[in-house]
Amino acid sequence: MRHFPLFLDLHGRDVLVVGGGGAAARKALVLAGCGARVSVVAERPDEELIEAAVGGRLRLHPRPFADADVEGRTLVVSATEEAGLDASVSAAARARDVPINVVDRPALCTFLWPAIVDRDPLTVAVCSGGAAPVLARSVRARIEAMLPANLGRLARFADSFRAAIKATRISGPARRRFWEGFFEGPVAAQVLAGDERGARERMLATINRRDQAAPEEGIVHLVGAGPGDPELLTLKALRLLQHADVIVHDRLIGPRILDYARRDADRINVGKMPGSHAVPQDQINTLLLRHARAGRHVVRLKGGDPFVFGRGGEERDFLLRHGIHVEVVPGITAATGCAAAAGIPLTLRGEAQTLNIVTAHAENGESELDWPALARVGRTLCVYMGAAAAQRIAERLIEHGRDPETPAAVIVNGTLPEQQILTGPLRELAAILGDAGAGPALIVVGEVVRRAAAWAGSAEPPRLMVAAVN
Ligand SMILES: C[S@@+](CC[C@H](N)C(=O)[O-])C[C@H]1O[C@@H](n2cnc3c(N)ncnc32)[C@H](O)[C@@H]1O
Repeated sequence: MRHFPLFLDLHGRDVLVVGGGGAAARKALVLAGCGARVSVVAERPDEELIEAAVGGRLRLHPRPFADADVEGRTLVVSATEEAGLDASVSAAARARDVPINVVDRPALCTFLWPAIVDRDPLTVAVCSGGAAPVLARSVRARIEAMLPANLGRLARFADSFRAAIKATRISGPARRRFWEGFFEGPVAAQVLAGDERGARERMLATINRRDQAAPEEGIVHLVGAGPGDPELLTLKALRLLQHADVIVHDRLIGPRILDYARRDADRINVGKMPGSHAVPQDQINTLLLRHARAGRHVVRLKGGDPFVFGRGGEERDFLLRHGIHVEVVPGITAATGCAAAAGIPLTLRGEAQTLNIVTAHAENGESELDWPALARVGRTLCVYMGAAAAQRIAERLIEHGRDPETPAAVIVNGTLPEQQILTGPLRELAAILGDAGAGPALIVVGEVVRRAAAWAGSAEPPRLMVAAVN
């Protein structure tokens, strides 16, 4: 390791930035954000610098650089984009032993400017020793994605309890064990979810607990996994999967998504029992409760969004009734995920102003659907769990006035490599479904289907078209 990383306290220190363009402004503002007193020397400062100076964030000296400018500075940054001037600034700083960074010229630097992940007070700095700044930025982006946005709040929360933990856990190892458990545990999850008051109460209860060996209560995250493509997981879902002790998942959650989960997490598939029956809902509820009460961090992973035909509401209410902390993490629902994959805009000016999302599953009261409303022109209808009812859906819509030629699409295994998009007129809906392969299927009915990527550019919509998409 040639460059030693360190974190410098710049609060109230004088620093100098030379240069008048965007790079100089960015550096100057980061330094100002650390509490440094920033002076900028630039013959032609750009607007951003002038605005920052007017706002009192830095002092601007619109004149040529002089060697004496570096005197008394804690550090100097040169971002002039002029090789000769950068070299002069570097020479002046080195001659006075003032640390110098020159943007994009590692040979002129005595310190390097890292790619920064700022979760103040937690800071991550990545540096490639000047060899590959783009690589350092890409590593930074990955770390950014891994770290919750409000990690700083968690650090401050922990700090506010440090003295109390020190007083109640006398030995060093006991304290370390406590903090290790804390940062992976439910109280931290509650802070990250924004419920700092609840977390504080819980933390106090934990600190004052007599039996410190008894398990703390866990937490359940109802997490939407999206329609199937792992790239459509939210950052939050990804992070929770990587921290879960137990993952209770549906049948539709494929191995490609579970690959992102913590290796040693228990995975429980409640979609299918050995005899091919789904685990009844009350048993799923009890299972979640049991694991949460054992102090485990439970992720209840559901296809799409937990609150869209996902029974997430029932699970949440059951757990809350039993005093378990629950957080819901939304996911991309099948309608939006499949529509994007098929290139169908679900609403479109002048074509579709209303989007209806319904289920045609008999148990969910298909007969109670408001068919006259659903059949109106200018609406897009997305039907979940409608494969078995396709014939009836088409009949009801046509009966209530929808044109039999209205374009319809069936998207099977949407967003997955085996995705199929089948399209045709509404009157052919059952036949279209008959041609589809196995897998979850979403029906979309409406004029906007004509805009599907596969139809775009052809004047006459094909009667039936099959498009496999990767
Ligand atoms: C029990 S519902 C769950 C819906 C889920 N909560 C959501 O928000 O997408 C299952 C139905 O969603 C639809 N679905 C889910 N994933 C799909 C996919 N990848 N492709 C097509 N349809 C899908 C199908 O209609 C399937 O029968």
